[in-house]
Amino acid sequence: MSEVFVLDHPLIQHKLTLIRDERTGSKEFRELVEEVAMLMAYEVTVDFPLKEVNINTPVGPVKAKKISGRKVGIVPILRAGLGMVNGMLQLIPTAKVGHVGLYRDPDTLQPVEYYCKLPTDVTERNLIVIDPMLATGGSASAAIQFLKDRGVQSIKLVCLIAAPEGIKKVKEDHDDVNIYTAAVDEKLNDHGYIVPGLGDAGDRLFGTK
Ligand code: PRP
Ligand code: URA
Repeated sequence: MSEVFVLDHPLIQHKLTLIRDERTGSKEFRELVEEVAMLMAYEVTVDFPLKEVNINTPVGPVKAKKISGRKVGIVPILRAGLGMVNGMLQLIPTAKVGHVGLYRDPDTLQPVEYYCKLPTDVTERNLIVIDPMLATGGSASAAIQFLKDRGVQSIKLVCLIAAPEGIKKVKEDHDDVNIYTAAVDEKLNDHGYIVPGLGDAGDRLFGTK
């Protein structure tokens, strides 16, 4: 059964407010998205298993802990997901990064796939799919299906802002995928934009509008 976790740490919420603000320009927007992604990486990894290891400090031996279990893969949905990659990698530097290119057709709102490059051992990894916006849920659901079709079994979805419609779609299509978001907003408008949301994440990240 899929669960939705709203990450309400004060630093995440404060930075999300700055990200939403229309006065925030691309440079600051990019920096903030990266910072929030790093904080979200901390929260999303809270259930990672630990194993005991024996090491020596300069003073003596100690039984200490290390993360065990499957390795991690980070999969940004292009293009806006790219804005979250470096933040995630700051806390999970050994993760490999796969890319899935999808854009949302502006008329039909259906996701169109245009690129895919995944780590060769992707099926052995716990994947974290990242995309700032979960609107209709079409892109995230298609990306997750795409990964499952290639044999991936363990997937988490991390976004900054989710619409109720997108959460419903991902839960219906993938009831094994937990969703982590900094906010659940009110609704979608007629163009499929999240209200109040933050506008077009890709355009704000890369200054294309
Ligand atoms: C945005 C966003 C998501 C998608 C969400 O990407 O980054 O991928 O829309 O919408 P959905 O939940 O209704 O599918 P967009 O298609 O604008 O492409 P871009 O990242 O290249 O700007
Ligand atoms: N994609 C965006 O970038 N923003 C939205 O509000 C919806 C989809």
